[in-house]
Amino acid sequence: MNIGIIFGGKSAEHEVSLQSAKNIIDAIDKEKFTVTLIGIDKQGNWHLNDHSSYLLHADNPKLIQLNKSNETVAIVPGSNEHQFIQANSTAILEQLDVVFPIVHGTLGEDGSLQGMLRLANLPYVGPNVLGSSLCMDKDIAKRLLQSSGIKVADWLVYTSAEKDDIDFQKVQEKLGLPLFIKPANQGSSVGVSKVMTEDEFSQAVQLAFEYDRKIIIEEAIQGREIECSVLGNDHPIASLPGEILPKTSFYSYESKYIDEKGAELAAPADLTDKEMEKVQEVSIQAFKVLQCEGLGRVDFFLTDPGDLYVNEINTLPGFTKISMYPRLWEVSGLSYSSLITRLIELAIE
Ligand code: DAL
Ligand code: MG
Repeated sequence: MNIGIIFGGKSAEHEVSLQSAKNIIDAIDKEKFTVTLIGIDKQGNWHLNDHSSYLLHADNPKLIQLNKSNETVAIVPGSNEHQFIQANSTAILEQLDVVFPIVHGTLGEDGSLQGMLRLANLPYVGPNVLGSSLCMDKDIAKRLLQSSGIKVADWLVYTSAEKDDIDFQKVQEKLGLPLFIKPANQGSSVGVSKVMTEDEFSQAVQLAFEYDRKIIIEEAIQGREIECSVLGNDHPIASLPGEILPKTSFYSYESKYIDEKGAELAAPADLTDKEMEKVQEVSIQAFKVLQCEGLGRVDFFLTDPGDLYVNEINTLPGFTKISMYPRLWEVSGLSYSSLITRLIELAIE
């Protein structure tokens, strides 16, 4: 079976995707599957196989560093010489049986790529267009979760047209302090800030608008950061939950991918049986509410009174070496390689 792995992409999570793709390529069962690499560079050009593999030469940890202006720091040798694949190039698409898109964030995880694959009549790993786009937009996802009785942190939403109306005093009266400021459509905590003061607030709002025309401002829930992996289509199952123990003020991009000491991950999390069951139950409920298919990692806050708040669902979660999604399946008894096989089976089910 020929599996097309699409990776990279124009989003701010380009470097994370390179790491995810490398691990998937290493782990995929080579006896069962032939792999076609399709890399998308930061300019949005598509490259096939050998021409795309240069994107994966990210052994130098600096390659995953995101600079402030969101330019790639990866060394791309003369990208002009690489073959450009037209998105509608049927000759290439016809050779593929299934696509594993591991492009995080904008254009890869938000339904755009999924729509293109659907039009091309190609089965793909992960949720359909609707599920992908619902989960990508933090504001829409929270509305749907809340209306299904799932707890979410209270929030306000602003578009760039309302930028000048955002008032720190009013926001903090409603949501308290500290506050989280986030681009509505972004991943890996890119553009996210935790703020206490008016100065920090203004800078954080500015930063978030650099990544999206819509931002959310959230109350900070004091609680443990719990994550749970979900796998399946109509009958999804949940893994053992894990816990993030950030060493910094929150689980930022830096603590996720740059400074390995920035956070510790406990897999499985030290929870009571009752807490564990509740995390798994709400994970599956949230997965269904947000129309997910294939896979999703559900991120929570667990407060001291035992309340569970869903932070978000990531529909193409990280598959880097430190990533929770595959790790939680490993501790639940499903190896990395079997997980990839299962995800491909679910795509064609
Ligand atoms: N958005 C990143 C890849 C994650 O959720 O793991
Ligand atoms: Mg995310």
